[in-house]
Amino acid sequence: MAAPVSRLTLSESLALGPEWRHACHAMLYAPEPGKLFGRIPLRYAVLMQMRFDGRLGFPGGFVDVHKGSLEDGLNRELAEELGDAASGFRVERSDYRSSHAAASAPRVVAHFYAKLLAREQLLAVERAAPHARDHGLEVLGLVRVPLYTLRDGVGGLPAFLDNVFIGTARDQLLEALQDLKIVDSNYISGIKLPARR
Ligand code: GTP
Ligand code: MN
Ligand code: MN
Ligand code: MN
Ligand code: MN
Ligand code: MN
Repeated sequence: MAAPVSRLTLSESLALGPEWRHACHAMLYAPEPGKLFGRIPLRYAVLMQMRFDGRLGFPGGFVDVHKGSLEDGLNRELAEELGDAASGFRVERSDYRSSHAAASAPRVVAHFYAKLLAREQLLAVERAAPHARDHGLEVLGLVRVPLYTLRDGVGGLPAFLDNVFIGTARDQLLEALQDLKIVDSNYISGIKLPARR
């Protein structure tokens, strides 16, 4: 299983020694007026990606803290992984949410951002993504996160959460959905996960 991690403030993270690598990832999301089956309101489109290693994560990657800001590095990674549509917006420090440091080697501190886009911007990201430099290589495809539970009590977000996630991505997702009020907080705490295979 994943190594335990500890939560740090951004300034604590930036004070870590040179043996630490920094990574930045972003959750992009936008209002989504559609209804699944004409019945289930979607409310938001939230993007994750299927990675080369078969795990789900957010777009982003390693940043060199000696070459510009965290956000410069993050926006460069987004352009590599998402393509040209990523130049239609910029993830800023004000979109920063949290940092987690791995408790054991490799020494990586992961910074997480969430960016609210206009619906058209998110649709442009989805259209451009198959043309991105890393498409088919590091990134196997963008996915939207289902934010509902179907009548069987598993289909939708519970089943999605039963996938394998990279690093702390699963916690980053749940915390952002809750804190940004993308879903109701009672909804998240009420989710029963399917039994692990
Ligand atoms: P390269 O260009 O091949 O170096 O990959 P990258 O720069 O795109 O890095 P990548 O996004 O694969 O991962 C950077 C580090 O962050 C690795 O330690 C990953 O395990 C970790 N990581 C990747 N995605 C996520 C994510 O969504 N959340 C968290 N918390 N960590 C992630
Ligand atoms: Mn990279
Ligand atoms: Mn990446
Ligand atoms: Mn990358
Ligand atoms: Mn790369
Ligand atoms: Mn690489």
